[in-house]
Amino acid sequence: MKASCANFDRTGDIMIIPVFKGLDKAPNNTTVGLGRGPSIAVKAAAASDAISGKAGESLNVWTKGCTVIFIGVGKKENLTHKVARDTGAKCLAGLSKDLGNDIIIRFTSGWSTENMTAFAEGMILRDYEFDKYQKKDEEKNHDGWILECQAHERHLKVLSESIEEASFVTTGVHLSRDLANEPANRLYPEEFGRRALEWAEGKDNVEVEVWDYARLQKEGMHGVIAVGKGSIRKPCMIFFRLNPNVQIGEQVPCIVGKGITFDTGGISIKPSQGMWDMKYDMHGSATVFGLFQALWATGYKGRVNGITCMAENMPSAEAYRPGDVIDTYSGKTIEIFSTDAEGRNVLSDGLWKAAELDPSYIVDLATLTGACVVALGQEASGLWSNDDKLRERIHQAGNSVDELAWPMPLLPAFEKEMTSSKFADVRNGGKGRYGGANTAAAFLKQFIQEREGENGGKTAIPWAHLDIAGTAWNVDTNVCVAHGGTGVHVRTLHRLITQA
Ligand code: BES
Ligand code: MN
Ligand code: ZN
Repeated sequence: MKASCANFDRTGDIMIIPVFKGLDKAPNNTTVGLGRGPSIAVKAAAASDAISGKAGESLNVWTKGCTVIFIGVGKKENLTHKVARDTGAKCLAGLSKDLGNDIIIRFTSGWSTENMTAFAEGMILRDYEFDKYQKKDEEKNHDGWILECQAHERHLKVLSESIEEASFVTTGVHLSRDLANEPANRLYPEEFGRRALEWAEGKDNVEVEVWDYARLQKEGMHGVIAVGKGSIRKPCMIFFRLNPNVQIGEQVPCIVGKGITFDTGGISIKPSQGMWDMKYDMHGSATVFGLFQALWATGYKGRVNGITCMAENMPSAEAYRPGDVIDTYSGKTIEIFSTDAEGRNVLSDGLWKAAELDPSYIVDLATLTGACVVALGQEASGLWSNDDKLRERIHQAGNSVDELAWPMPLLPAFEKEMTSSKFADVRNGGKGRYGGANTAAAFLKQFIQEREGENGGKTAIPWAHLDIAGTAWNVDTNVCVAHGGTGVHVRTLHRLITQA
């Protein structure tokens, strides 16, 4: 969706007027540019009982050449960026393509630039379809929406910058959603790598490197190998580098993603009900890829590293087994209790590798556990960290873009449980089902390296883990997303990194 800003002038095919509760007459500037007849009709509608500005209300007033739509956003004092964004998203979802494609939003009075931007952002985010495998409806003949946000002159400079920024970030969200929505027969580890390489082509400040199966073996990345070797689609690890030639010698963020392009569970096979959704088990990696697109598109000048650990978890004669003891890149061994706890195995290599890049902090994203969904539902991702400041910063970044990341406990008892294998250094499943999301996080912590601290002692690298099993797919309450992959945390991490 193309989006721009202007003052109250043009009327477009569709003119949206968001209005607050208590509306008794058309706000100033509502009818600028409308003819005499339409103006009278629109003013009469605004003054009538047909629209009061209550949240969820809307009223269409058809006039020749332009359909005016009043959208209720509720009480002015209750307006938050979440209300504004969600209202924008719902508003776009309700528009009929038969009305044309030229949308004007008129922010009359009572709107901060932050809330105007959020409203527009909701529309831009919601303007997404994944229909590449469906026959196109010839009659649809719609060129795509064009959006113009109209506001008072004094807002326009800041507003146009912030809406442009939101559009750029959204390209990353939509890329991430595209990847998550791709079926596993079409998007497998090496295809993900190919797309990353293709994305990097012609961009002079990004680098993508793919470590194929042979390279993984040479490097001893047996966590990734063990999970991926049961599939004919072999695993790989992908490195994303933004602005690789700046801040040399400085510590910069490293973002790591779980990238299981399909999770059957392997030999510990999953029940068939719902297994079709396991194509989104690579959403952690999809978020990393989308984040790099968002950072690149917004022209972020700092250096950032990304690592995605890609594998397909299949049962076969070549698959790894429960009871196996596998090596990992770290040198630590893992006893496999369930081949379905595969995400942590691939992340063990990615996290260990991340430390070699001497990062300022590491954040990993993973659709790691069903237990996290049991604990938090689909409203918040689980957030674990070994660093209070980093946890707080991610929590705040999540709040400010309305992608909640909820603090969860990283307790010594969970670590003890996960290091109690009789045959290996670490076990990949807890002793029972209790606290399954916490034991998974405690497992990951075993692969966060320490380094020389300020006082000569060793300190762990600041690290945070986001379990996005509940927030990455089919979240009914997320109105900025209709269905499928959500692109969750592209906006959070973009915020975290750029507002440092
Ligand atoms: N990918 C799943 C977790 C998952 C479940 C994501 C539901 C999204 C929706 C993960 O690989 C998995 O299977 N985890 C197991 C861990 C268990 C075997 C310790 C789980 O959650 O049951
Ligand atoms: Mn699994
Ligand atoms: Zn999985």
